[in-house]
Amino acid sequence: MKTVKLLSACLLLLPLVSCTQVQNKGGDAATEQKVEALLSKMTLEEKLGQMNQISSYGNIEDMSGLIKKGEIGSILNEVDPVRVNALQRVAVEESRLGIPLLMARDVIHGFKTIFPIPLGQAATFDPQVVEDGAWIAAIEASSVGVRWTFSPMIDVSRDPRWGRIAESCGEDTYLSSVLGAAMVKGYQGDSLNSPTSIAACAKHFVGYGAAEGGRDYNSTFISERNLRNIYLPPFEAAAKAGAATFMTSFNDNDGVPSTGNKFILRDVLRGEWGFDGLVVTDWNSAREMIAHGVATDDKDAAALAVNAGVDMEMVSYTFFKYLPEEIKAGKVKQSVVDEAVRNILRVKFRLGLFDNPYVDEKKASVMYDASHLEAAKRAAEESAILLKNEGEVLPLKENIRTVAVVGPMADAPHDQLGTWIFDGEKAHTQTPLTAIKEMYGDKVQVIYEQGLAYSRDKNTAGISKAVAAAQRADVVIAFVGEESILSGEAHCLADLNLQGAQSELIAALAKTGRPLVTVIMAGRPLTIGKEVEASNAVLYSFHPGTMGGPALADLLFGKAVPSGKTPVTFLKTVGQVPLYYAHNNSGRPASSHLKPLDEVPLEASQTSEGSSSSYMDVGAQPLYPFGYGLSYTTFKYGKPQLSAGELSSKDVLTVTFDLENTGKYEGTEIAQLYVQDKVASVTRPVKELKRFARVTLKPGEKKTVSFELPISELAFWNLNMVKTVEPGDFGLWVGPDSQTGDEVFFKVVD
Ligand code: NOJ
Repeated sequence: MKTVKLLSACLLLLPLVSCTQVQNKGGDAATEQKVEALLSKMTLEEKLGQMNQISSYGNIEDMSGLIKKGEIGSILNEVDPVRVNALQRVAVEESRLGIPLLMARDVIHGFKTIFPIPLGQAATFDPQVVEDGAWIAAIEASSVGVRWTFSPMIDVSRDPRWGRIAESCGEDTYLSSVLGAAMVKGYQGDSLNSPTSIAACAKHFVGYGAAEGGRDYNSTFISERNLRNIYLPPFEAAAKAGAATFMTSFNDNDGVPSTGNKFILRDVLRGEWGFDGLVVTDWNSAREMIAHGVATDDKDAAALAVNAGVDMEMVSYTFFKYLPEEIKAGKVKQSVVDEAVRNILRVKFRLGLFDNPYVDEKKASVMYDASHLEAAKRAAEESAILLKNEGEVLPLKENIRTVAVVGPMADAPHDQLGTWIFDGEKAHTQTPLTAIKEMYGDKVQVIYEQGLAYSRDKNTAGISKAVAAAQRADVVIAFVGEESILSGEAHCLADLNLQGAQSELIAALAKTGRPLVTVIMAGRPLTIGKEVEASNAVLYSFHPGTMGGPALADLLFGKAVPSGKTPVTFLKTVGQVPLYYAHNNSGRPASSHLKPLDEVPLEASQTSEGSSSSYMDVGAQPLYPFGYGLSYTTFKYGKPQLSAGELSSKDVLTVTFDLENTGKYEGTEIAQLYVQDKVASVTRPVKELKRFARVTLKPGEKKTVSFELPISELAFWNLNMVKTVEPGDFGLWVGPDSQTGDEVFFKVVD
């Protein structure tokens, strides 16, 4: 087994892929010949069989009849290597053409070794850590015969009510693009053909993150311009990184379900980007076009999906059953089916399945390899975000003797793994409680009182015991948050405050007057204003996975220094949704001079609040902006120097600035570069992230950092729906988050 490339990502400069055509159009000639040769031998039934994916069920015999007839092209959810081989043997040795099956599984943030949820991984702003996580997931999953994962999920997500925000890289188009591409690279390795590589699947194509009201599966209403400027770029980046497959999303956008959307599947994905891989539907989403009200029955749904550009359907069995009739009736062309089968076979050839269809049944020893656990710990460390550190209570000082560990998430081995962990096992989880005891038990005495049994627990009986523990301690560490089931698919929330009696627990602990460190483990950014106020320090850890405990222990005791930044805006209250940094300006931007609600005079004039875009009760600002996160040390940014004040669209702007560690600890800062197009043919976002870099500095150390930004990356889809850089003035900021930094200016000329 390869050893994990441990990363030296102290300074990463991250170019976003350009908008040129994806390079993989049409496979290599030898593969294409094999595809054509095989296709020419196939009956219509065998072709439709390739387009059919089922979920594993029953005994091998229950499925083997279908496989023998060539009725199945892919199986999902089979992770027993003995069964994988048995099924594969039927396909390869007993079906007429011997076409191997493609075995699929949702391996979303690790197979056995669970990494932080993708939203947590996004908080690292570290493509190498993300790539390594995907690579390890591929090694573990492929060892049982899985060769296709339904990841990365790169839906730009701006609504924390939506449970699937946990699976995403957050709200930003550029960050999602860079990290999505890193995941593709990790899963697929240098070559898909390697037995430890698995095919990536860019999902959910497209717009799913904008589900109305944050309710899963809901409609979206994204204009073509927003689709192209905000939601499509991460998918284009994934295609460009070589993602072998794409999955259509459940939502309808402006009335058109993605599974029947020719524009996105044929015009954009195949036409504009030259994608030649496989497009699969989401679970049953072909048939769900009946519920959407755009297909009358299964037959109609099958024709709609395949004509729109879908190659394989997941579990709905409409293609195999009904496409023969639809072809006869002239509603689907035989050539459309042939094209779909080509796309499927091409991926199977690329994966080397024809040469190596079987898995070594004894390979499972790769699970939880020490190097995998080490990489998972590093990811969890980098993903934690320090939101507050009043009086430098963290890291815990040498003179601390007794630590009270409390809260429902302190020892919750299942819940800290997060959503989408079909194969993760809580028996392997290292929780904060066990890690603190094991790693630091010789330095401090640990008193543990759970206080509440689980995050939704409303029974306050245990709070007094937690308070008593706090009173006996030098410092209190409260682990609160969300059980894993409170986020993920179909697990949306309308209330983003801490569930159960957790706020009461924090308030009661704060009253003791002991220094209070609150650690929050959750699947989304929660509205935690009250808890932040009550605590001396707050460390936000999205569900951190198998190694969350040791990672958090080292962060709390100062062996590691927090570096994570918020990959999504943290709201004060759920009523602010949607609130994201890259918003367009209104003609009356938010003013900072609002009066507190109670000070608005009785019968005040209609314009008493100055007519600006804001809320009277909570203002316009979030609790924490995108890109925010503290360290145990402090950093000072010098003014950015630009290589030129005037540039053409063919030039590359170099932005240089000094970054200095002005504090007492070695630390890593995620420096961020934002740009604003001042005047354009359409309103542009007030800021857009264009580059970021992780920079590690010793105390007192100063480095000159530079970013290269090709002006072509300032292109956007303009009034005429043409992707172009419009000449004019631009503002630019370099800083520690999306709200901080001095603005400098440059001009783009024709
Ligand atoms: C439905 C989910 O939307 C998708 O993300 C997942 O990959 C499939 N089910 C398969 O489990």
